[in-house]
Amino acid sequence: MAKPVLISGIQPSGKLHLGNYLGALKNFVELQNSDKYDCYFFIADYHSLTEDFTPKEKKAQIKDLVASYLAAGLDPEKSTIFLQSEVGATTELMWVLSAIAPFGELRRMTQFKEKANIKDDDSLEVDANVGLFTYPILMAADIILYNAKFVPVGYDQIQHLELARTLARKFNKNFGKTFIEPQPLLASTPRLMSLDDPTKKMSKSHPDGCLFIDDHPAHLEEKIKRAVTDSGSEIKYDLENKAGISNLLSIMSTLSGRPIAELETNFGGQNYGEFKHALSDLVSDYFKNYRENKKNILQNNELIRQTLTDGANKASAIAIKKIADIKNKLGLII
Ligand code: AMP
Ligand code: TRP
Repeated sequence: MAKPVLISGIQPSGKLHLGNYLGALKNFVELQNSDKYDCYFFIADYHSLTEDFTPKEKKAQIKDLVASYLAAGLDPEKSTIFLQSEVGATTELMWVLSAIAPFGELRRMTQFKEKANIKDDDSLEVDANVGLFTYPILMAADIILYNAKFVPVGYDQIQHLELARTLARKFNKNFGKTFIEPQPLLASTPRLMSLDDPTKKMSKSHPDGCLFIDDHPAHLEEKIKRAVTDSGSEIKYDLENKAGISNLLSIMSTLSGRPIAELETNFGGQNYGEFKHALSDLVSDYFKNYRENKKNILQNNELIRQTLTDGANKASAIAIKKIADIKNKLGLII
C-alpha cells in the first residue's frame, strides 16, 4: 500500500535557530527515517519574499537552507527535497484557493497580526504587504497539492494548517472530493521559548533570544550563560514559576533523549551555572557533525543544484497531474 504523504517547508530567511530545529527540522529527519511516510520537504522561498531581502541575500539563504537540510540528515534518496518556486502549479492552486478563502479568517490570523503590527482587529488600515495576508493560502496550496495527510510544524503554524483544512473541505464540498484534509504533527518541543524572555517564543524577529544552530560553540555558550533564569537555585521543571529553567531543561531533554525527571535528579544539588555549563557542552557537541557536514555541502554547489533539480522534477510530475484534475473539477477544461 502507498505510504501517506508528509510535507513541510521552512522559509529561507536567515539563520535557523534551535526552535526551528526542535520544532521542525529534527522532526523532519526522524519522520523521514521512520520509513512510514512518502516525504516532501521544501524551501519556502516564495513565502520568504514577504520580508525585506536583496537578491544576493536570497540566493545565499536558499543554498544555506538546502545545506542545513542535508547536513541535518534529510536525504534526497529518501525524501523529495525541492524549491517551492520551481513548482509552478503551487501558485496556480493558490489562486484557485484564494477564490474560496474566507477574508475574515485570514484577517484574524495571529501571525498576520503580529507581522503587520496590528492592534485594532477591525481596522483595515494595515501597513503591510498583501503577501503577508495571503501567506496562509499559499501554504495551504503547498500542502494539499500533494495530497499530504501529515504536516510536521511548530505550534505557531497550527492556525495556518486549520485554514488548509478549511479550504480542502470547502473545495471538496463545492466541486467533489479532490483534496485530503491535512493534519499537523507536532514535535516534542513544538514551542521553544526565547532565552532572554521565556514567556515569548524563540523567534528570529528577536535574535537576542535565539540560539542559532550554526553558531560557533563559544557563541552558543555565551548565549546560554546569559539566558534568563528564575529566582531560586533548584534545577526543577516548573513552567509557572521557573519558566527559564524549564525551557533549558526541555532543550537538554530533547537533545539528550533523557526524560526531564531524570535530569532533575541528575542535577539535584547543582546550581544554575553548572547546569548551563553542561547544557552548553551538550549543544555544542550535538551540532558538531552538523556544522562539519554543512561546511562541506556549502562548498558543493553541484550537489545543492542537483538535489533541487531532482526534487523539482519529482514534485512537478505529481503537481501537474493534480492541477489538471483541479481544473477539470472546476469546469475549466473544455
Ligand atoms: P519559519 O522559520 O517561520 O519558516 O519556521 C520554520 C519552522 O520552525 C516552522 O515549522 C515553525 O513552526 C517552527 N518554529 C519556529 N519557531 C519555533 C519555536 N520557537 N519553537 C518550535 N518551533 C518553531
Ligand atoms: N509557513 C511556514 C513557516 O513559516 C513555512 C511553510 C510554508 C510551510 N509552506 C508550508 C510549512 C507548508 C508546512 C507546510 O514556518
